[in-house]
Amino acid sequence: MKSTENEKQYIYIVQALLEPSKCKIGVTKNLEKRLKSYNNITGVSKENTYEYLYTCEVKDMRKVENDIKEEYYFVREDVKKEIYLYTDELFKKIVNFIKSHKLFVEEVFIKKEVKPEVEKIIKIVKRTTPPLDERGITRKDVMQSAQNIDNDEFYTRYEDVEKELSMYDKSIWKDKVVFCNCDDAVDTDERKTSAFALYFLLNFKELDLKKLICTHYANAVDLFNQGPKGYIYTREFTRNGFKEYTDYPRGYNGSFDHPLSLKILNEEADIVCTNPPFSRAIDYWKLLIESGKKFLIISNITNVLNTAYIPYFQENKVWAGYNSVNNYLNPKRQPTDAAGHWYTNFPVKDRPKYKLLKIMPLKNIPEIYKIYDDSKTLLVDNCYIPSNYKKPFAVSTRSILNGILEKGYKIVKEKRYDPYIKGKKKFARVLIQKIEK
Ligand SMILES: C[S@@+](CC[C@H](N)C(=O)[O-])C[C@H]1O[C@@H](n2cnc3c(N)ncnc32)[C@H](O)[C@@H]1O
Repeated sequence: MKSTENEKQYIYIVQALLEPSKCKIGVTKNLEKRLKSYNNITGVSKENTYEYLYTCEVKDMRKVENDIKEEYYFVREDVKKEIYLYTDELFKKIVNFIKSHKLFVEEVFIKKEVKPEVEKIIKIVKRTTPPLDERGITRKDVMQSAQNIDNDEFYTRYEDVEKELSMYDKSIWKDKVVFCNCDDAVDTDERKTSAFALYFLLNFKELDLKKLICTHYANAVDLFNQGPKGYIYTREFTRNGFKEYTDYPRGYNGSFDHPLSLKILNEEADIVCTNPPFSRAIDYWKLLIESGKKFLIISNITNVLNTAYIPYFQENKVWAGYNSVNNYLNPKRQPTDAAGHWYTNFPVKDRPKYKLLKIMPLKNIPEIYKIYDDSKTLLVDNCYIPSNYKKPFAVSTRSILNGILEKGYKIVKEKRYDPYIKGKKKFARVLIQKIEK
């Protein structure tokens, strides 16, 4: 059905006030009349008015509508109806898809106050979580809470996943099987879908993925309300288009170390991406690193000071990603702190945090940032690094996370270094040394 001079054709996205998690996408030749008919549906309460979120003119509305269906079929609530899952993130994506369609003519209307969901969350975080100094706690306290953390039940926020993953070259994902293996549930409702799963579902085509596999862990605390059975969700690109299915293998609990999960890890996955439980991180890292697979994961910021992980950094099997992650949501979806960081074995290009390293001759380092401990080992702080010091010296997490191991220094002791000054134990560190040319 092609549009003629007098017969304009439109695509619209409409939403009912009382159903903010859904929207309808449809076609019409008369926007005004169509909206009136939505609002005149008998039996619908007066409060539940419909309003347009987006309208635009297109050349062949049926074709554009079908292309939207095909592209976003996995967020359709009901395959027979034009009802889609609504999130602000998804809305932006669909609008961009329509606008870049070759049959797009012009935008008629876009609801202005539509803000990304992530901004809303950030606002909540800002309102209810004042900065550390206002709360009278220091970064050290947060680090301590990270060390003590044994409560694994918190959600990663979508914007944190997006912020990190968008830093890497898109080509790393092409034709790859991505495995999200720590309770990365998939549902038609955004709130029941992990931010990792959502990111890959929304960007499946853009990243040119081959397959996405996500597992749900059957746990007493069911973060995503997915029920007591572990499952394996798969979305894949085949010759006949996309295929999507969820398996509930008998006896499968969705644990990352269950034999079925390990089979996927070792035999199918190319890239692993998730936020594993902090309390099981030692086992998780071991299995992951032994698998030899590429990965992008969030873990405790203090791992570089922990003897269980230091050898991985020392042997260059892992390094810091770009960003720290300090804000999460608890099971009540309220903001909560935990000091996490991204870790990866993908190249980090021109690490922006190199500029935080202050590499200079020892004599130029301010006195307050250098001290010798009881065993005469030099300790440096605040990312000061001596450029002309030949012996091992001790640094804290930040220098490692900011990339000092990529700047001609190596870890020389595979165990945590605990300095003592005048017999008093100080904050743990790691021993590094300048590599001799
Ligand atoms: C920090 S939360 C992250 C949840 C989700 N991946 C996200 O990023 O929002 C860690 C999750 O791992 C789950 N978990 C705990 N033990 C697990 C195991 N053995 N295998 C897989 N997941 C596990 C927890 O129930 C929790 O949902």
